[in-house]
Order: sequence, then structure tokens, then C-alpha cells
Amino acid sequence: MRWDHLLLDCRLATMADNGAAYGAVERAALGWKDGKIAFAGPQAALPGKPADLAAYVESAGNAWITPGLIDCHTHLVFAGNRAEEFELRLQGASYEEIARRGGGIVSTVTKTRAASEDELLAQSLSRAQTLVRDGVTTLEIKSGYGLDLESETKMLRVARRIGAELRIDVRTTFLGAHAVPPEFAGRQADFVDEVCVRMLPAIAHAGLADAVDAFCEGIAFTPSEVRRVFEQACALGLRVKLHADQLSDLGGAALAAQFGALSADHLEYTNEEGVRAMAAAGTIAVLLPTAFYVLREKQLPPLAQFREHGVPLAVASDVNPGTSPVLSLRLSMNMACTVFRMTPEEALRGATANAARALGLADRGTLEAGRRADFVIWNIEHPAELSYWIGGDLARRVVCGGADL
Ligand code: NIG
Ligand code: FE
Repeated sequence: MRWDHLLLDCRLATMADNGAAYGAVERAALGWKDGKIAFAGPQAALPGKPADLAAYVESAGNAWITPGLIDCHTHLVFAGNRAEEFELRLQGASYEEIARRGGGIVSTVTKTRAASEDELLAQSLSRAQTLVRDGVTTLEIKSGYGLDLESETKMLRVARRIGAELRIDVRTTFLGAHAVPPEFAGRQADFVDEVCVRMLPAIAHAGLADAVDAFCEGIAFTPSEVRRVFEQACALGLRVKLHADQLSDLGGAALAAQFGALSADHLEYTNEEGVRAMAAAGTIAVLLPTAFYVLREKQLPPLAQFREHGVPLAVASDVNPGTSPVLSLRLSMNMACTVFRMTPEEALRGATANAARALGLADRGTLEAGRRADFVIWNIEHPAELSYWIGGDLARRVVCGGADL
């Protein structure tokens, strides 16, 4: 049973807990078969002669290899953009003011509803392609700009089609409770009903969502409304995640933890009780420094408390037209370091091993035998460069499920 492929002369940042920084193994080899890693370790420990072990053997020329990057929080499928809102914010309007005036998320909803499925795919695909060129092999995409059953399912189908077109793994999240659409203005409770009673069951039965998210915030949904959505999601067997404590402290982190959420995301205003609850529930903290930067937020997420209580940290791009028009997960990693003071190693773990956990995926995120053969060969001299460079063409080769992208 020979392996399909064996790379010699590698430097592996395995991101596994092997005691070394970045889980590094130098003078290493990486072998894979049928889309899974068969060997990731010291070349000297290979169980035979390379030519006997694999059908195809080549040298990586001592390049650094990391797990494929995992972007675990994006709103990448949308139509149009919000550059006008960007200009308004530069003139002093706040994100909340624009949202309350009917702009913000709702303006993207209008454009997303109007776009055909193919138009939506065409607009979104190039964004995903840009992320993939920068090393992303697993991409989470949320709905939430449709806000009626037909448009939400259109978004989720487009998300799945992006995965098929680009040959990456796309994980879909239903975010019906993102904003109240215009036809439900003044009837927020009725919209929550619509999400719980009509949309969620239909989407769950169609198998279109891997998880369920909600936006818990003064300008969005209250904790008790989120609770309803989560109860329904759990009843349908779907795991939950939450946009929590982004602009104010509504106890979102603790609420997410109560429902055994995979992750709570944003978390700038999370209090210590929320941190403790997340630690106890095993909920991952997904940090979104690009959104923090775009909104020129002042309140930093409680990094020291997350570390103290052992809450695993993930980093994601939050690609969306309002608060994070970013097309590089590595830029978000850079900002996780420069803005949130994470270390480059924490940032890389946050975009690999911990991002996998934030999506409930146990089969990826590290370079270890048995995991998916998702990895990137980089043009760098040290793994810290992945957070250090702002932009640049660093990915030499991106491999997903054993296949070159
Ligand atoms: O993660 N916080 C809510 N949702 C997005 C923003 C969406 C938008 O403004 O279009 C976020 O920041
Ligand atoms: Fe988001």
C-alpha cells in the first residue's frame, strides 16, 4: 500500500502539541495517500526507502509547510459592496447609526436578494479564490444577507458551489438572526418566529447548514431571542455559534457557552464570567481583528483572561461588506498580532488548529498522520513571517485533500 506522494526536505510547522514552537519538525518528510496524511515527521524516521514508500517522491527544498489555513468566520457571499457607508463613517457616522437608519446589513440584503444565484456566485467566487491563493483550504461561510427562506437558501447553495468550484471545503452556517429585514420592521418577535418555525427546519432538512449563528447585540437580537433560535437549532441537531459582545456586553459569551456553542465570536466586551463559562464549555474564542480595526473600536477583547482560563483562541477574517472588506486571512493574523497583541504562533494556531475546533472539525488543523492532507508550502524563512508580512504572494503551493489547487 504505497503512499500517493512523499515530500522530502521539509520544515513542518505541524501546529501539533509536540513541545516545540509551532509544533515544528525540521529535516522532515510529509507523505499522503487518498487525501489523508500518511506520515508527518522526521525524515530519518521514515519507515523505508522513499522510492519504496510512495509512487511519487520529490524534494520540498527545505521549505516551510503549515496546515492549510482555516477561515472559520466569514460572510463572503454577498452582492454589491458598502464603500458608500465607508465614506459616511469617515465623515463621522457610526456603524450603529448607519444600521439604525436602515443602511448597514439591510442594504446588503436588498442587493443580495436582487441578485440571481449565478450572479451571486460570480461576485463571491473571486473573493474566495483570493483567500485560497493566500493559503485557505477550509472556509466557513454564513448566510444572513437573504433573511427570507428563498434568499437564505440561495446564499447557502452559492456557498456550497464555491467549495465545489474551488475544490476546497466550505462549511456553511445559517445566520437568519443577523438583522430584521424591512418587511418585518417593528415586528422583530415575528421575524424571530419566522427564523425558528419556518427557516431553520427547512434549512436543516435540506442539509444546507453545518451550524447556526446569531447576532446578539443592541442593534440586532436580544439574548432571549437568541435563546429561542438556539433552542430550535439544538432540537434540530445543529451546533451553534454566536456573534457575541462585539459592541456591548449583553452576556453573549456566557449565553453561547450555555448552549455548548462551538465558538463565540468578536468578544470585545466579554466579561470574566463569560470567559469562565466559555472555558468550562470548551467554546472557542474567535477573534476578528480586521472588523475591530475597520470600526476603529477601542475596547480590546480580554486576551489575558482567555489565556489565563485556557480558552483556545482562533482568528478569522470576518469577510463582509460592512465591517471587514478584507481578502486575506493573513492580514487578519497580522492584525491579531499588531492590534490584539497575540503572538505570531498564537495567530497561526488560531488560523489552523483552533479554527478547526471552532468549526467542530477534528480531522484537520495540524499536520499529523490520519488528518486531511490540507497544507501549504510557503516562500518564507520562518513561520512568524505568515503574520509579519502584510500582503505578498507567499503561498507557493496550496494542497487540499491531497490535490494541488
Ligand atoms: O461580523 N456583526 C455582525 N455581522 C458582521 C457585519 C455584517 C455587515 O455589516 O454586513 C460582522 O461584523
Ligand atoms: Fe461576522
